Amino acid sequence: MLPIYIAMPCWDTTLNFTENSIMNRPAPAPTQFLSVEDVAAIVARVGLASTLSRMADYIEADYRRWQDFDKCARVASHSKEGVIELMPIADASSYAFKYVNGHPKNTGAGLPTVMAFGVLADVASGRPELLSELTLTTALRTAAMSAVAARALARPNSKSMALIGNGAQSEFQALAFHHLLGIQEIRLFDTDPQASRKLIANLRHTPLRLTLCASIGEAVRGADIVTTVTADKSNATILTPELIEPGMHINGVGGDCPGKTELHPDVLRASSVFVEYEPQTRIEGDLQQMPADFAVTELWQVLKQQAPGRSRADQITLFDSVGFALEDYSALRYLRDCARELGLGQALSLIPALANPKDLFGLIRPLSQAAPPQAAASGAAPRGAAPRSAAPEAARQELALVL
Ligand SMILES: NC(=O)c1ccc[n+]([C@@H]2O[C@H](COP(=O)([O-])OP(=O)(O)OC[C@H]3O[C@@H](n4cnc5c(N)ncnc54)[C@H](O)[C@@H]3O)[C@@H](O)[C@H]2O)c1
Repeated sequence: MLPIYIAMPCWDTTLNFTENSIMNRPAPAPTQFLSVEDVAAIVARVGLASTLSRMADYIEADYRRWQDFDKCARVASHSKEGVIELMPIADASSYAFKYVNGHPKNTGAGLPTVMAFGVLADVASGRPELLSELTLTTALRTAAMSAVAARALARPNSKSMALIGNGAQSEFQALAFHHLLGIQEIRLFDTDPQASRKLIANLRHTPLRLTLCASIGEAVRGADIVTTVTADKSNATILTPELIEPGMHINGVGGDCPGKTELHPDVLRASSVFVEYEPQTRIEGDLQQMPADFAVTELWQVLKQQAPGRSRADQITLFDSVGFALEDYSALRYLRDCARELGLGQALSLIPALANPKDLFGLIRPLSQAAPPQAAASGAAPRGAAPRSAAPEAARQELALVL
């Protein structure tokens, strides 16, 4: 094997001072990791009703300071079977992103339709503070967001909800509407009867009255709220205009990708339509079927009382939900605060803890190579944990790497 010689540049004589001050600094806190089990433990300790309610409060508080955020539509990579999306957002202090997919045929192969993880980072330094599972969290935050929208848009005395699509998201939707809006009856329909049976089994110990229906029409008839949360990579028509009754609030969750919709265009025409972030919903929501000038209202305006929500009891309101990065930012913030409070999560060795941040090479310095003098004097950290900087003396010489 040939030795490769790399000529090192002349060492800056001021470096010793810089290094010494760096080495006296406390090491930055490691990235925290929240696994699926950690998030499940948070829900178990806090309680599902409180988790949904507190997450809804975080989301609503962040939506009320809409102007603080640097926003963009998510970046989507489409394939024949599904989509993989990256959802970034930031304010002056925190940056968040979520990785999420949508593959409706996954369940046949033993995988969830939607899987996700995400990061919360410190804007001032770029340091990732938290890496968390977001599959379970997406179901929680989507249900909390649906409830935030419905609290502003549905008739206040709403008691029954049709729930079309009884897959992974459905129980969370049912319970968010029960706990946050007082919904007492859920009228279920899914093309897969096993999915509805699973929902009924999961919610049988709750006070909810669960009515299994034989068709979408039967489920929707007389319901105060209609939630559509189906998964099919097609322009489906789960709701047609003749099913819609005056005063209904529609929570359209499953139409969230180009070529993947749930509502007949006339349902949108009959409704006052509310969206999360208009540029994204025009591409991804049921709104994609409508002309570019079709009127919609962004929900933050209603929450800040800058635009009306429901103004009449017989008005049909529609929340065309697609899932916006701000909800994941809020959810990550909630998880970070909760994990701190409860002492949950693990320190993750994701970013090197360097005694001298300029000595990244110390991580891979051969063990046989002598530790730099400063490092030895101040107590050399174990290799890989907090390696010390290369000795200026040694660095003046040529460094030989044997491949
Ligand atoms: N808007 C958001 O923020 C958001 C967040 C998460 C998921 N979603 C979307 O919600 C949908 C549901 O997600 P999931 O994780 O519950 O998926 P899932 O695959 O677990 O469940 C979907 C259910 O829809 C049923 N279904 C399909 N076509 C139907 C039809 N025509 N009528 C009745 N039922 C039908 C399926 O049988 C299945 O049980 C997906 O489309 C997903 O992309 C949206």
